[in-house]
Amino acid sequence: MFRIGILGAGAIARTMANTLRLMAYRGDDVCLYAVASRDQKKAEDFARREGAQVAYGSYELLASDPQVDLVYIATPHSHHAEHIELCLNAGRNVLCEKAFTANARQAERVLALAKEKKLLLAEAIWTRYQPARKQLQDLIAGGAIGEVCGVKGELSYPLMDKERIVRPELAGGALLDVGIYPLTFASMVLGNDIVKTSSSTMLMETGVDMTDSITLWYRGGAVAQILTSAAFQGENTGLVYGTKGFLRIDNINNPNVIEVWNGRHSEHPARIVDVEPKLTGYEYEVLACKKAVETGALECPEMPHSEILTMMRQMDALRAQWGVRYPFE
Ligand SMILES: NC(=O)c1ccc[n+]([C@@H]2O[C@H](COP(=O)([O-])OP(=O)(O)OC[C@H]3O[C@@H](n4cnc5c(N)ncnc54)[C@H](OP(=O)(O)O)[C@@H]3O)[C@@H](O)[C@H]2O)c1
Repeated sequence: MFRIGILGAGAIARTMANTLRLMAYRGDDVCLYAVASRDQKKAEDFARREGAQVAYGSYELLASDPQVDLVYIATPHSHHAEHIELCLNAGRNVLCEKAFTANARQAERVLALAKEKKLLLAEAIWTRYQPARKQLQDLIAGGAIGEVCGVKGELSYPLMDKERIVRPELAGGALLDVGIYPLTFASMVLGNDIVKTSSSTMLMETGVDMTDSITLWYRGGAVAQILTSAAFQGENTGLVYGTKGFLRIDNINNPNVIEVWNGRHSEHPARIVDVEPKLTGYEYEVLACKKAVETGALECPEMPHSEILTMMRQMDALRAQWGVRYPFE
């Protein structure tokens, strides 16, 4: 049995706990073994509600438990690097929520440590692990829309009531929380050979980015246009433009269907491709980590360390364009 410990008992931790329950029920040979919170009572409540065997009132206790095969880190972006280091130094494999760290410097540090310790370190950016990624790539490779020339990606939620989104000391802002998904979408379709970036943002009163507009130009002429916001509810679709038509992905951070549109005046998609049925969509990153640990791999091929660094550097460069710096930088 592959035993998972959750570090930080917040919102996404509950979703992961539900995922692990469904996986165990399906017979995936994984379980929610332990949960850690900074507060013992919160950990016990979470464990009781979500079915964890062990409840720890400190992150250190979870990290030092040798029964844990993988720690899933579900804390604010500002604390990812510190919590990754805690777990790696205690000998634990780690799957850390996105954004991987607050900046590329932190990412470089923890990735080097994982290598030194010979432990798995992976980023929980679920769209990289989901089967929809391959379905999309197969459609493109099969010529469904001709030659790919561009991407449009949008992801926005009204999140301004969340402390970790508005507070600079928690590495808040739209980019690291939601913008990472359309950036990931563009990266999965067009790669990372970006020759020019233009972008602008509207800042929150606290100084972090609220609504970002980003245009990426790629070698060869392809373009990605990205809109992301923590202020409003978006349509959250992804589009891939080609010389013979376009693909419409609903939605960009958890695809359910891919529509193939051909011709300028079509009223209906030429084809609708259903995405493989999911439990919650988070099971794929867990299975990838299980496979990596079982085979002694130190990274997941779906999101290699080099790609993690590329994305963090891209987000650093965007924040630099906007003058957004976190207080600890
Ligand atoms: N993959 C996805 O679809 C998805 C969706 C939502 C969020 N996320 C990611 O998951 C992470 C957590 O997001 P969330 O929405 O679950 O946040 P959340 O509800 O605020 O929970 C974060 C947890 O982190 C812990 N924590 C440790 N230090 C903290 C501090 N200084 N301030 C606040 N909390 C602190 C707290 O747990 P304890 O009090 O128990 O210690 C808190 O409950 C982020 O990286 C976010 O980007 C991913």
